[in-house]
Amino acid sequence: MWNALRSHFETVKDRRFETLVDTARAEDFSAQAGDMRFDYAKTNIDADGRALLFDLLDKTGVAEKRDAMFAGAKINETEGRAVLHTALRNLDGQPVVVDGENVMPEVLETLDRMEKFAADVRSGAYSGQGGKITDVVNIGIGGSDLGPAMGALALRPYHDGPRCHFVSNVDPADIADVLRSCDPATTLVIVASKTFTTIETMTNARTAKAWMGETVTDPAAQFAALSTSEQGTADFGIDASRVFGFEDWVGGRYSMWGPIGLSLMLAIGPDAFRAFLKGGQAMDQHFQAAPWAENLPALLAVVGIWHNQVCGHATRAVLPYDNNLSRLPAYLQQLEMESNGKGVSMDGEDLSVNSGPVVWGEPGTNGQHAFYQLIHQGTRVIPCEFLVAARGHEDDLHHQHQLLVANCLAQSEALMKGRDLDEARGKVADKFEGAELERQAKHRVFPGNRPSTTLAYPQLDPFTFGQIVALYEHRVFVEGVVLGINSYDQWGVELGKELATALQPIVEGANASGKDGSTAGLVGFLQTNGL
Ligand code: F6P
Repeated sequence: MWNALRSHFETVKDRRFETLVDTARAEDFSAQAGDMRFDYAKTNIDADGRALLFDLLDKTGVAEKRDAMFAGAKINETEGRAVLHTALRNLDGQPVVVDGENVMPEVLETLDRMEKFAADVRSGAYSGQGGKITDVVNIGIGGSDLGPAMGALALRPYHDGPRCHFVSNVDPADIADVLRSCDPATTLVIVASKTFTTIETMTNARTAKAWMGETVTDPAAQFAALSTSEQGTADFGIDASRVFGFEDWVGGRYSMWGPIGLSLMLAIGPDAFRAFLKGGQAMDQHFQAAPWAENLPALLAVVGIWHNQVCGHATRAVLPYDNNLSRLPAYLQQLEMESNGKGVSMDGEDLSVNSGPVVWGEPGTNGQHAFYQLIHQGTRVIPCEFLVAARGHEDDLHHQHQLLVANCLAQSEALMKGRDLDEARGKVADKFEGAELERQAKHRVFPGNRPSTTLAYPQLDPFTFGQIVALYEHRVFVEGVVLGINSYDQWGVELGKELATALQPIVEGANASGKDGSTAGLVGFLQTNGL
C-alpha cells in the first residue's frame, strides 16, 4: 500500500507540477460540496497518485468505518465508546442506536431545552439580580472552549445577543481581565466541562463564583453548566434546570454542536445556531454519499496524507483569508493534533508511518507580513491550505474584500510558480552588475513548486461555518483510519496533568527532593523571585 505510493512519489518528486495545471486539471482536481469548492490542482498529485491514495482509503476500510461511526458502533476502542457528534446535528431525528437505545429523542430534547433557555436569556425572561443578562462568560478549556470561542468570532456579524467572553487559561490574568469588564449583577457564567473535573476550569469556576458572590445574593442562580457529570454540577450548586448534559460518545474536541455550543447559541440566537447545525449535517450527508473523487473530507485527507506521510512534510499551514476565522488554526490544532498525534495503532503496534502533522497558521494577509518569508524561501516545504470567501459582510467595503481575495490567490500562485534566477536577475539588473548582480539576484529567487490547496465559499454564514467545521472533523477521521489509529482518545495529555498535581505542593513550598535537578532549580529560582 504505502510502498506503491512511495515508488510513485519517487518517479514524480522532481517534476514541476505547475506544468500540469491547465483548465482541465483545474476541473479534475477540484470538487464541490454544495456551494463550497475545494481546489487541489496546485499540488503534485496526479491521476495515478490519486488512484493510489483512493486505493489506500479502500484498503484501510474508510467507507466501512465511516458507516460504523454514523451507526453508533464503538469505534473509540481504547475507551469503549461510540463516536456520535454527528447525532448532535442529525436534525431530522433519524434513529441512532447506542447499546440498543435510540439516542435521538434525548439529543433533540436537550437542543429544545437549550433553545428555550437561550430565548429566555436573550429576551430577559431569565435575568440576573440586576436585570437582563448583558454578558456571558464561558469557562472551559480545550474542546469546551476552542469550538465555541472560534464560532463566536467566526459568526460575529450574526451576533444579536449578550456579549460573550471566553475564559480558559488557569493563568489568573485570563479570568481577571474578563471579569473586570463585566457587571456581576447582569452576567451569566457558563461552566463548560465534559468531565467537570478539569483543574483549570474548576479553579476558574470557583473564582467566578466568589467574584459574583461579592455582589449577588444567590450567585449559583446566575450559573449554568454544560457537562456529562450530573453529580459534579449538582455539587457545584447549579440547579438542574440550567444543566445541559450530553453523553460520553461526544468527544471534547467534537462537542461544539451540542450543549458546549450554548454560548454561541446565546450570541447568535437559536435560528442561526440551527443553520450552523444544518451546515454540519449537510457535510455529513455529503461525506456519506459522495464518491471519493467528489468527497471533500476524503480529498482533504488524501492531500494531507500525500504531503505528510508520503512526501514527508511534517507541518501544514492553515491560512484563512477570512479574519473572522482567526481562531480556526488554534481550533484545528486541537482537533487534528489531539486526534491524530499518536504513535501507536489501534492494535497497540508502533506506527510504520508518521503520525498526523503539526498544524499551525494565522489569517491572511497578516501572515504575509510575518512568516510567509519562510514558506516561500525556507529550506523546508510547508503545504498551505487557504480558505477564502467570495464576499465578506461589509458590503460598503467590498473593494477591500477584493484586495483580500487577490492576495490569497496571489500567494498560491507565487508558491507554485516561484521565480527563477533569470527573472530575478531582471529585477535588479538596473542596480547591480557582475558578481554583485549574481549575488543580489540569488536572494530574489523563489524556488516555487510548493503545494497548496484552496477552499472557496460564497460567504462565512452559519451554514457555511457548520460545513467547514464538519469537513475538518471528517478529514481527521479519514486520516486517522488510514493511519490505523484511534482519533478519539487523548492519553498523551495525562502525564503532564499527573506531574502538575504532584508539583503543586512543591511550588507552594514543600521539599523538592526527588525532583530532577533542572525542575528543582527552576522552582528554586522562581521561589527566590516571589513564587
Ligand atoms: O486534557 C485534554 C482534554 O481532556 C481535552 O480533550 C478536552 O477538550 C479538555 O481537556 C477539556 O475537558 P473537559 O471538557 O472535561 O473540561
